[in-house]
Amino acid sequence: MERLQKVLASSGVASRRKAEELILAGEVQVNGEVVRELGRKVSGTDVILVHGKMIKKEDKVYYLLYKPRGVVSTSSDEKGRKTVVDLIPTSSRIYPIGRLDYDTTGLLLLTNDGEFAQVLMHPKHKIEKVYVAKVRGIVKGDAIHALEKGVEIDGKLTSSVRVKLRKVNRDTNTSIVELTIHEGRNHQVKKMLASVGHEVLKLKRERVGFLTLDKLKSGEYRPLSPKEIKQLYAMANYSQDGKKEE
Ligand code: URA
Repeated sequence: MERLQKVLASSGVASRRKAEELILAGEVQVNGEVVRELGRKVSGTDVILVHGKMIKKEDKVYYLLYKPRGVVSTSSDEKGRKTVVDLIPTSSRIYPIGRLDYDTTGLLLLTNDGEFAQVLMHPKHKIEKVYVAKVRGIVKGDAIHALEKGVEIDGKLTSSVRVKLRKVNRDTNTSIVELTIHEGRNHQVKKMLASVGHEVLKLKRERVGFLTLDKLKSGEYRPLSPKEIKQLYAMANYSQDGKKEE
């Protein structure tokens, strides 16, 4: 038996939070009865309807994509631009876990498992993300120190960050910096670097937790192995049934 909101999230109908909203709004029926309680447990034989339509229980799928530039990190784009989902031929309703900007490249995870997405994205789980940015200007020690201490973006201080200066090029007046962060705020890396006076010219995410791009080329993807999925849950201190481990 699993909680109704978890079943909805893992069937790809909605994120866990959206699923809870659907339940509270009376849009979910179990065996013909409207259910408005969030704790309700359901089994594999229960018939679940959302907006009057039966949900299909999809197998859970997990992919690691090397996102190229010029692709949006959503499942569909109102401007008709190519999306990250278009790059992975699957009949499952997958969506990206978090976002990379249109012009950002690098490691992006996609899944149809709402629970997994929620666990990985939650800042309290502190999953490390490593970004490499090419910026305008020569990055100095005081800028690195300020970034590590925390800078204010959108009225809130950023939490701990590790910064490494990888390279400077005085001829082109550019630097390459590596930032390791746990948060996932909107345009976080670009805003952090802008706050210390460096415009980001190129941005790539090289690592999420222990996952790297390894041998993938831009635009290529691979499924995550069951071991990797388990390890990601373990990193976030969750067991695979969604219960917090003591
Ligand atoms: N930070 C950004 O500014 N952009 C991204 O795409 C990811 C992190």
